Parts: sequence; C-alpha cells; structure tokens
Amino acid sequence: NLSPIDTAKFVAAKRAVDFIEDGMRVGLGTGSTAAWMVRCLGERIREEGLKITGVPTSSRTAELARQVGVKVISLDEARWLDLTIDGADEFDADLNLIKGGGGALLQEKIVATASDMMIVITDPSKQVEHLGAFPLPVEVVPFGWQTTKALIEESLGSLDVLGQTGTLRMNGDAPFVTDEGNHIVDLHLQRIGDPRKLSLVLNQIPGVVENGLFIDICDKVVIGHQDGRVEVTD
Ligand code: A5P
Repeated sequence: NLSPIDTAKFVAAKRAVDFIEDGMRVGLGTGSTAAWMVRCLGERIREEGLKITGVPTSSRTAELARQVGVKVISLDEARWLDLTIDGADEFDADLNLIKGGGGALLQEKIVATASDMMIVITDPSKQVEHLGAFPLPVEVVPFGWQTTKALIEESLGSLDVLGQTGTLRMNGDAPFVTDEGNHIVDLHLQRIGDPRKLSLVLNQIPGVVENGLFIDICDKVVIGHQDGRVEVTD
C-alpha cells in the first residue's frame, strides 16, 4: 500500500516506462520518482523479456538498476541514447526545469542532452509559473569554491532574479560531494525572470561546472496524481 505521494510518483513512472521499446538505450534518472521508473522498467524486462540497456545518472541509480535486473552500461559505451526518463524539482509551461535537488545534475544533464528524447516524471507539486522557488543547484569545483561562490553572487546583480544568495550544500559537517567529486552551491533566487540567460551567465564563471537549469532539453512531462490519474503534456 503506497502513500498518496508515492502513488502519484509511481503512476507517473509506470506510464513513462510505456514509452520504452525493445532494444532501446535508456538514460536512467536520479531521485525518488526516477527510482520508481527503474523498478517499473525492471519489471517490464522480467515480464516481457525486453532487451534494454540503461545508462544511470548517479551511483545510486546504477546500484538500483543492477538490483532490479536492468543491464547497465556507461554513456561512453552507449554514446547516444533513445530516451531519458528523470524526475525534476520544478518545471514551467515551456518545460524548462530545475534539477539537482538530489545532487546529480551534472550527469543528468549530460545524459539527457545525449538522448533523442527526455521525459520528466513528476507529481503536480513541481509545476510552477516561474522557476526559482526551489533553490537552483550549481555544481562547482572544490578548488577556490568560496571565490567561485562570490563571483556567482556578484553576477546575479545584473540578472532578473529576486534573491541573490548562495549556500554551500552540506552533508553533515562536511561539504556535500557529487559523483564527479565537486561541491554544490544552492542559489536562493525565489524567481528567475530569464532562465536561459541565467544559465549562460553561470556557466561562464570559472569554477562553475554546470547548473541545474535544463532549458529546451525536456520534451514531455508525465504528471501523476495522488488519485492515480496521469496527465501527459507535450
Ligand atoms: C536529482 O539530482 C534531481 O535532479 C532529481 O531529479 C530531483 O531532485 C527530483 O527528485 P524526486 O523525484 O525525489 O523529487
């Protein structure tokens, strides 16, 4: 028996897995919603004998995929993917996203960009009019991170955002470390007026590896509701 929120995530994940066809190379997202997708995919592989290869976007997802019987290969082995299915922290009417609440934004963005199609699976709470209420994760290299953070904050002054502060993401007493060995600065912007411009400005700062804005990458959003209904947008 699933809780209402898990029901919403599960029905979205299950519907999205219907888009996967035999022989596909599939990018496997990270987070609690994406975890449902990996389990549903494992079930389809077992029941239908599908030949699917999966490229995980985090060490956590790789472990889960192996546990449920999804064959895992690296992106360099796959090169290009047919489809990526992943969760998101926010999405707007243009299907632009904020991702990286789980800290996997870098691999997620590389994998989604290498895919012919990206489907986001979500519950309705992630739908927003303007991105930015969810803190925007920015992955920075550990070397000189305080200087990088200051440069990021300075750059926000000329951009159409409400808040301008960043906080280093922690894991207990130590800085959080991503799968690529970097840190994350979460930007408290409240409202992002021009996501495309913000993304370009952030990625020009030395020390910034990538940011959690996904612009023109997502093709479709599958929204699961707590009563089991599913909506598909495109
Ligand atoms: C992981 O880095 C994120 O981009 C996730 O996709 C996002 O945080 C969604 O996670 P949930 O499905 O757990 O809300």
